[in-house]
Amino acid sequence: MAKLIVVTRDGTEHEIEADTSLTVMENIRDAGFDELLALCGGCCSCATCHVHIEGGNKGAMPAMSEDENDLLDSTTDRDDASRLSCQILFSDALDGLRVRIAAED
Ligand code: FES
Repeated sequence: MAKLIVVTRDGTEHEIEADTSLTVMENIRDAGFDELLALCGGCCSCATCHVHIEGGNKGAMPAMSEDENDLLDSTTDRDDASRLSCQILFSDALDGLRVRIAAED
């Protein structure tokens, strides 16, 4: 287990103990944050798991695939910190990662 910081749309910061066998999306969903819809269940086909990476060890994040990049292009709230949280397997190296749930499309 390691720490994951989730900032919800109202700006509230929540610290959760994250499971390193799950993705960032699965950790957020399992912690009960219903703002993150994750409608496709992690198949990289909906973009409703969009987050902004605000802090932490970004160098330990997996590289963005072409599919993830294309899907993020379909969102209105994309910026340089955007990622699809279902595409990031959480790991001890990401301990302390801070993510903000993106605006709803
Ligand atoms: S859950 Fe659908 S793209 Fe991530």
